[in-house]
Amino acid sequence: MSKSSTPVDEALFGFVAAQTIPEDDFLRDLRVASLAAGLPEIHIAPEQAAFLRIALQAAGAKRVVEVGTLGGYSAIAMARALPDDGRIVTLEVEPQHAAFAREWIAKSDQRGKIEVRLGNAMDTLPALAAGAADAVFLDADKERYVDYLRQSMRLLRRGGILFADNVLADGEIATGTSAKVQALRAFLAAAKALPNLRSVIVPLGDGCLFGVKQ
Ligand SMILES: C[S@@+](CC[C@H](N)C(=O)[O-])C[C@H]1O[C@@H](n2cnc3c(N)ncnc32)[C@H](O)[C@@H]1O
Repeated sequence: MSKSSTPVDEALFGFVAAQTIPEDDFLRDLRVASLAAGLPEIHIAPEQAAFLRIALQAAGAKRVVEVGTLGGYSAIAMARALPDDGRIVTLEVEPQHAAFAREWIAKSDQRGKIEVRLGNAMDTLPALAAGAADAVFLDADKERYVDYLRQSMRLLRRGGILFADNVLADGEIATGTSAKVQALRAFLAAAKALPNLRSVIVPLGDGCLFGVKQ
């Protein structure tokens, strides 16, 4: 760690998160309803949602692909950054998650911008057009991140953004030995080795890789 790095403990991170744009009422309601419906509590954190939204807005993104919809929390947050003719295609394998997301997207002010595609992303990603995405957000099964990286580089236009959540693996990324941690380390190594991807890890939430295709 360089001398200029400041260790961030929970209290300091709480302060940092509190400085972020607050979560809006609709996303808070979606979160509560998603828990009540029995969906797992594994959506991105509000400060990550703000980060995605600001980065997409700064990049002028219009076409976004998401892998891992869950209840639609991150898809709706990202859609808020896109212009009226922007579009998000979000991929989800669990019918219950896709149904919940579709219901809440339909109730949201972003309904025209988001399409949920049901199926395994390993099957649905290859059907998407090459070079057309301004951004790809990976947030599904970590064991497949290396495959998703390959697909993302196919889908992204030059200058497009790659986001990948959970790259800190709940703090286990440096020393853990589970299959998930090993898959995430393989993903980070593969991303670093790509000559046409410049990336950095943003330590928000469980860590988000943020890369730009060259
Ligand atoms: C961490 S959650 C996504 C959270 C969501 N991005 C958010 O922040 O609101 C991961 C989702 O990926 C889905 N998933 C897991 N494996 C998948 C696969 N192979 N293809 C598509 N979706 C998958 C899970 O069912 C789950 O809903």
